[in-house]
Amino acid sequence: MQFSKRVAAFGDEIFAALDDRKNELVAQGRTIYNLSVGTPDFEVPSHIRQALIDAAADPDNWKYALHDLPELKQAVCDYYHRRFDVEITPDMVCSCYGTQEGMGHIGMVLCDEGDTVLLPTPCYPVFITGAAMAGATIHYYPMTEETNYLPDVTTIPDDVADRAKYMVVSLPSNPMGSVGTAETYAQIIEFARRHDILVIHDNAYSDIIFDGRMGRSFLSYPGAAQVGVEFFSLSKSFDMTGARVSFLVGRPDVIAAFHKLRSQIDYGMFLPIQHAAIAALTGPLDSVRRQCADYQARRDALCNGLRSIGWDCRDSQGSMFMWAPVPERYATSVDFCLDLMDRSGVICTPGSSFGPAGEGHVRFALVLPPDQIAKAVAAIDASGILKS
Ligand SMILES: Cc1ncc(COP(=O)(O)O)c(C=O)c1O
Repeated sequence: MQFSKRVAAFGDEIFAALDDRKNELVAQGRTIYNLSVGTPDFEVPSHIRQALIDAAADPDNWKYALHDLPELKQAVCDYYHRRFDVEITPDMVCSCYGTQEGMGHIGMVLCDEGDTVLLPTPCYPVFITGAAMAGATIHYYPMTEETNYLPDVTTIPDDVADRAKYMVVSLPSNPMGSVGTAETYAQIIEFARRHDILVIHDNAYSDIIFDGRMGRSFLSYPGAAQVGVEFFSLSKSFDMTGARVSFLVGRPDVIAAFHKLRSQIDYGMFLPIQHAAIAALTGPLDSVRRQCADYQARRDALCNGLRSIGWDCRDSQGSMFMWAPVPERYATSVDFCLDLMDRSGVICTPGSSFGPAGEGHVRFALVLPPDQIAKAVAAIDASGILKS
């Protein structure tokens, strides 16, 4: 069978190789510190679980949902007011099965074959998938040390910007852990307006942000609502990764087009999950704040720990990740990850899986408590890998 070029272009060989090696080490009884996958280890709050259980007990809730419950859309609007001080209306909200799915389909809503899109590099891989599925031409803008790991619109040539349909911005960033300022956003909004580009902001980590910073919505910045939309996921704030709930929020014309595409391929989110999402959005937020403090303690354990053993890396400012340079003697980040796993039992993700500028770094996920992270750091030190 000759499969499509689209599918052939998706490579998963690197992850398969890392996974095989991990399984071999586990079979040998080695201690593993798995800091590779961004799945939170915190528990979903009990009031959210209870709402799902209660709704699932009603057989009516097992029918096709067909659309988002009005109470769910209103809950998103109320949450945006409560949490971000942003006023939106229900026509500015459309659910999707996680930002992963939404971002994977958004290119088909906005682009025809060959249209240009602007993506950060390094970036979360589904940004690339979404553009590729639409047959769009990708122009990467750097988010590297040279730009302080932030978008710098002056790096994008005017003729490319004039052609571009949309630009993905995602801060706090995965994998770099960088956080935008009001000035960063003002520049992006002015650039988008000047070149008539739609900004798609992925706000996965608005509640995981460190050192007293306050995560905001893109829509809270002046002029943003005219030029952009935002994916707002419940996965990380509420530890609901498996429930697959996110929303595209913002400009009604974009929301209507997104909904049009989704309504062709989907019959609506399982109603008990919609009820769980309402409970998350309308319920207490103390667990969200506590968890952020816990992530910061993990960040401190990892970043301070790695620096104390001679690994020169910068503090992550937000997200559940940190980004560290690969020692120079390694040809690739995959080589380093495999060697690190073999010698220390610590698993991280090769930077090359985050697009063209990812090579030369690795990503650690803050998915273990500080005492386990301290052991992982000690294992790296004991392995001698930073020296030879
Ligand atoms: C930047 C970013 N966007 C989106 C996602 C996925 O979110 P969801 O669970 O809503 O699909 C992740 C998950 O790691 C992420 O890091």
